[in-house]
Amino acid sequence: MLNIVIFGAPGSGKGTQSERIAARYGLLHISTGEVLREHIARRTKLGIIADSYISKGQLIPDDLMIKVLASVLDNEPAAAQSGVIFDGFPRTIPQAKALKIMMEEHNSKVHAVIGLEVDENCLMQRMLLRGQQEGRADDNEETIKQRLAVYHQQTSPLREYYIAEGKYCGIDANGSIDDIFARIARAIDALPNL
Ligand code: AP5
Ligand code: MG
Repeated sequence: MLNIVIFGAPGSGKGTQSERIAARYGLLHISTGEVLREHIARRTKLGIIADSYISKGQLIPDDLMIKVLASVLDNEPAAAQSGVIFDGFPRTIPQAKALKIMMEEHNSKVHAVIGLEVDENCLMQRMLLRGQQEGRADDNEETIKQRLAVYHQQTSPLREYYIAEGKYCGIDANGSIDDIFARIARAIDALPNL
């Protein structure tokens, strides 16, 4: 049983590496960004609210986001058996505290936080390229700048939070996808008491 949070700036490779981690360690991959984009595509009530924040590069408010995550976990009974890779959650200190309580309620915990540490100057280009290739609506220059600013203001303090909890594993996330994954797998394989 292994629960991992993957953490990093927009475009740092959270989704790309989460897929590989999920496959290697048999984990359920929960991407809150993907959950919200599915709701937007289906024009649900949550999707309409989420769109109003995502299109501006802002975070969905904590109370709503915490309910969304709780509901995803409740609807994924496999999560308790397999373990989870959390991609895009938590993004604020209140979300981290809520995740801790949710895991305790399931008699579980976050074992490690994989922090993708990447040179920021490549992020804009990566996301603009994806915007051209895949048409993700928030991959435009103005919204990306806002997402990066929000990351620095609201999300990056989580690094210190998880260092204090003794859970943060910083990973050099520059270079090829394969090399980065090899570094992540080495860090996971070295976790004590799994
Ligand atoms: P979310 O979907 O989580 O987006 P994000 O954090 O901005 O990150 P991305 O998905 O853009 O990047 P990534 O780190 O996953 O990198 P990827 O692997 O795709 O959230 C979107 C929005 O939803 C938020 O802005 C917010 O509004 C809302 N939201 C979501 N969760 C929330 C929460 N908990 N609370 C409140 N609001 C929330 O890689 C990026 C690109 O680079 C890809 O094209 C990839 O192919 C490429 N790439 C990856 N690795 C490499 C490499 N090593 N070399 C070259 N290219 C690479
Ligand atoms: Mg992603």
